[in-house]
Amino acid sequence: MCGIVGYIGQKEAFPIIIEGLKRLEYRGYDSAGVALFDGNNLNVCKTKGKVADLEEKVNKSIPTHGNIGIGHTRWATHGVPNDVNAHPHYSNSGDLVIIHNGIIENYESLRKELTARGYEFTSDTDTEVLVNLIEDVKLKENLKLGKAVQVALNQVIGAYAIAVFDKNKPDEIVIARLGSPLAVGVGDNEFFIASDASPFIEYTKNAIYLEDEEMAIIRANKDIKIRKIKDDSLVDPYVQELQMNLEQIEKGGFDHFMLKEIYEQPSAIRDTYRGRLLVKEGIVKMAGINDNIERFLNADRIIVVACGTSWHAGLVAEYIFEDIARIPVEVEYASEFRYRNPVITNKDVVIAISQSGETADTLAAIKLAKSHGAFVFGVCNVVGSSIARETHAGAYTHAGPEIGVASTKAFTTQITVLTLIALKLAKIKGEISLPEFRHHLQELELIPEKVQKALESEDHIKMIANKYKDVRNCLYLGRGYNFPVALEGALKLKEISYIHAEGYPAAEMKHGPIALIDENMPVVVIATKKGHYEKIVSNIEEIKARQGKIIAVVTEGDTNVQRLADYVIEVPETLECLSPLLTTIPLQLLSYHIAVLLDKNVDQPRNLAKSVTVE
Ligand code: M6R
Repeated sequence: MCGIVGYIGQKEAFPIIIEGLKRLEYRGYDSAGVALFDGNNLNVCKTKGKVADLEEKVNKSIPTHGNIGIGHTRWATHGVPNDVNAHPHYSNSGDLVIIHNGIIENYESLRKELTARGYEFTSDTDTEVLVNLIEDVKLKENLKLGKAVQVALNQVIGAYAIAVFDKNKPDEIVIARLGSPLAVGVGDNEFFIASDASPFIEYTKNAIYLEDEEMAIIRANKDIKIRKIKDDSLVDPYVQELQMNLEQIEKGGFDHFMLKEIYEQPSAIRDTYRGRLLVKEGIVKMAGINDNIERFLNADRIIVVACGTSWHAGLVAEYIFEDIARIPVEVEYASEFRYRNPVITNKDVVIAISQSGETADTLAAIKLAKSHGAFVFGVCNVVGSSIARETHAGAYTHAGPEIGVASTKAFTTQITVLTLIALKLAKIKGEISLPEFRHHLQELELIPEKVQKALESEDHIKMIANKYKDVRNCLYLGRGYNFPVALEGALKLKEISYIHAEGYPAAEMKHGPIALIDENMPVVVIATKKGHYEKIVSNIEEIKARQGKIIAVVTEGDTNVQRLADYVIEVPETLECLSPLLTTIPLQLLSYHIAVLLDKNVDQPRNLAKSVTVE
């Protein structure tokens, strides 16, 4: 969702801010803007469209000189995407300027009160209300900016990450967060502000992550003072050393981040199991599980909460936890779970899965589960993210930054972590024999090279993509462990090519979707050798009998399905429970190539955001 960048120090602010905004483009946005202070004047420029459009407009319309500035990419919530609603927003006096990520829920009542007091609004945004509330408090009570921000935020209901600047106090920026991430890069006599560390990674490896309900006053050449917004207590800044490097957030010769991330999967999966999967010793080592083993062993059930692709990874986990570890699992959309008054007890273990670690619904589901005494375990990719901090314990996926909005390596590395957990619990519970356990570990260790092999089908898949790029609809079918893969394949196609696609358990086809099948309907069927093979071959026969076009993902060397399908894509053989790690690869490549052939914006599909920090 919205992205925030700011700079205060000795360097020219504009290049840092504009490049930083480009790094945050992956979050999803529809307009952008900057405010730069040139020593005398505060210059603001904003536009609907891309950061490149903003750069062009800034260069034509305002001075770019100055050592202090803030920049923003906006994903519209209140008000359509246009130049006026884009951030930054001024206060009525023109003294204060703000950028904001999040939603102020009580903005309408605040707006009414401010209007009654003579304030005027030019945009439809909640953000313009907030900056005027800050100004109103500041003027009424004759407060400094930091204090005024604090008082105003205590009147606000909602979520925010903000950066505010006062042109009459041009040596400081005030920032605050509640529910939306905010990081501060600490350089030599300079500070960088951003929604994540990617905009400042080449300048400093030292970062402070603001916690919820904290604010900070950042002064050029001086220091950063962090306070609790509610009780005004001072907080010691905790400076972390970042592990991320520049290479990880660049395309590295690939046309798109999505393709780079698809190809990173062999190494990402290896990074996920490194130090955890000890094949020789026959051990799965995971501190987060060991330290809380009683909670897992005494659990009545595991509830998985997640959204989107992470929810699909949760469905795969349901199969493996029940099949191998014999633990009952329920998989919940976090957005439904949080609002449907679910039965949760202190005998439940909740696993929250999230790439970004910032998804608002997942975060709320975690808070709800905790309030009922459940033990909450996080599976996140982004280190130090809100979900990673909000959970009792967890395991990182270590996939490295995922920039493409369509999740790829996040999915396979989430499945890898969840598989490790299931195997570990199965062994401790005695649900798996030692030889079987070792066999599973050996097979899991081989997955990266098998993913590499699966990637070799790219040219063949590109040819298939060319055949089907103009279809309006597409069905994806799978059974057992590969049913969630069918859902994930359909989601990938929908989100980046805008082709309508549905995933179904193959046997459900007869209960409705079969009516859609005719000679114009491509059906992608996951038909690997292990796991209901004969049954899925029957489903393929049924599609063929109705002239449907069949694209089958099969186990290497399968000739049976080849006879029936229009196209087959082979993946190496593995254990049934590990097959999603391989069968998902061709589906990622298929959706990628269809979207490229249709000339869609693969990395930043319309309307979508990488991390969904609002409901
Ligand atoms: O960061 P999270 O894993 O919590 O994100 C959840 C979904 O928003 C995400 O998986 C989304 O569905 C992706 N665009 C799918 O490719």
